[in-house]
Amino acid sequence: MNPVIELLKNHRSIRKFKDIPLTPEQIDAIVTSAQAASTSSNVQAYTIIAATDPELRKQLAELTGTAYVEQTGLFLIFCADLYRIKEATEQHGEVFHQNMESFLVATVDAALAAQNAAIAAESMGLGICYIGAVRNQPQEISKLLQLPELVYPVFGLTIGVPDQAPIQRPRLPKEALVHLNGYQVEAGREGVRQYDETVHEYYKVRTQGKTLTNWSQSMADKYRKPVRAHMRSFLDARGFRLE
Ligand SMILES: Cc1cc2nc3c(=O)[nH]c(=O)nc-3n(C[C@H](O)[C@H](O)[C@H](O)COP(=O)(O)O)c2cc1C
Repeated sequence: MNPVIELLKNHRSIRKFKDIPLTPEQIDAIVTSAQAASTSSNVQAYTIIAATDPELRKQLAELTGTAYVEQTGLFLIFCADLYRIKEATEQHGEVFHQNMESFLVATVDAALAAQNAAIAAESMGLGICYIGAVRNQPQEISKLLQLPELVYPVFGLTIGVPDQAPIQRPRLPKEALVHLNGYQVEAGREGVRQYDETVHEYYKVRTQGKTLTNWSQSMADKYRKPVRAHMRSFLDARGFRLE
């Protein structure tokens, strides 16, 4: 079997790492791979902050409520970045027009670069976990990382030598996610019905019977109230115009 596809299919998030720093060669390979990702019109609208300073890591662990941010080989924060493009535009005497589209471009660019970094890391036997929790207190994190206007932290990525081997988290059936020649509402619903059973079983095994929930229930638990409702005003304060 194609080893890249084998690697992709074998993914699972790692949340416990050995206290081993990454080598400069590993870091270089990860960052070079991130940079090789496709990028909308070559805008490269992201910046990666590598948090290596132990004190900074400690503060980031506190602000994200994620202890292993401090105990991982490398912690990268992927930021959507329109600041660099604004400066380049102004360098040529033009006014930089920012809107919802450029916000989306920068956010997608950051995600594509991060996923390349994640795959590169996993291909070297390392484990990764995305940390969306950098958006729990994004104002404080932006200040700590000295982010200029038009830059915001999309997520962090912990990368390190795994110290756990969790079972793989099952995904929705393909029929629910891949619709032939147009959106298939009923196929989606049936997929969720099946998946609820799969996820119920997964939690039962993973938590030795302590957690008995399913996918639709966990979505209901998450989305019955607004999630990170501060994001709109935070982005506004960062200078992003979402119009
Ligand atoms: C953008 C993004 C943000 C995430 N943020 C967190 C996080 O803050 N904390 C965490 O423990 N896992 C986080 N995750 C990991 C997801 O929970 C995980 O990928 C998902 O449950 C599927 O599990 P798997 O990666 O093991 O297959 C995040 C994943 C993504 C893609």
